[in-house]
Amino acid sequence: MSVLNKDTLLAPQADQNNATENDFYGRAQKYWSEVPATVNGMLGGLGYLNRIDIQGSSSFLRDLKDLGKNNALDCGAGIGRITKNLLMSRFNTTDIVEQDASFTEKAREYCTEGNEHNGRLGEIYTMGLQEFTPAANKYDVIWCQWVLGHLTESDLFNFFHRMRVGLTNKGYLIIKENVTSSNIVEEDKQDSSVTRPLKIYETAIKSAGFRIVKTWRQQSFPKGLYPVYMLACRPTE
Ligand SMILES: C[S@@+](CC[C@H](N)C(=O)[O-])C[C@H]1O[C@@H](n2cnc3c(N)ncnc32)[C@H](O)[C@@H]1O
Repeated sequence: MSVLNKDTLLAPQADQNNATENDFYGRAQKYWSEVPATVNGMLGGLGYLNRIDIQGSSSFLRDLKDLGKNNALDCGAGIGRITKNLLMSRFNTTDIVEQDASFTEKAREYCTEGNEHNGRLGEIYTMGLQEFTPAANKYDVIWCQWVLGHLTESDLFNFFHRMRVGLTNKGYLIIKENVTSSNIVEEDKQDSSVTRPLKIYETAIKSAGFRIVKTWRQQSFPKGLYPVYMLACRPTE
């Protein structure tokens, strides 16, 4: 596979890796600190996509075999858009990991106001995914959406390894991310993220000890956006 990766793009000198990584995460923190804590803010000004996105995710979840109902984890949750609209109605408890403190503060309010679900909001971890380690065997579903492009490639691989430990034996890791149609990683300097080809996610997921059991492309998004793919992954025996 011939791809440029973020390290190639951003870190020409090996001894600059730490500084470059800090810069990569620091610039993303700054970007998100200036974004309103609203659904529209979470969706880059395309708030109207919320309904279509949640419908696509609901259909995707509906067909998964032996889906547990106890604990879910929403990674890079922002204000809890997915927690509230997708996960809380399906799981007894949903935990959140999110790096921005004003978003997690908002999530407490947003996910509980007008909540008609039986599910409840659980732990809120205000930290970067690159630093987060879940409790072992806790989650039936770990949902990662529109956040993995904020991890460096080596942190992405390590993150999947740690998430495998956090899943129950029959749990699912689900990722829903933009992907490039080209075979290269495309960088967005504005929000300090990268968009990767699907192949890199598949490789990282498999190398962490998962098998991919279902792949869907999100339908009905407007033309001109990156293709969005959902992958459901289960730990290999
Ligand atoms: C495009 S928003 C998506 C939010 C949510 N997943 C959704 O779909 O509504 C990206 C989110 O990722 C968070 N984020 C960025 N870098 C992160 C990191 N390294 N660790 C955890 N969260 C991060 C941002 O603060 C922001 O809330």
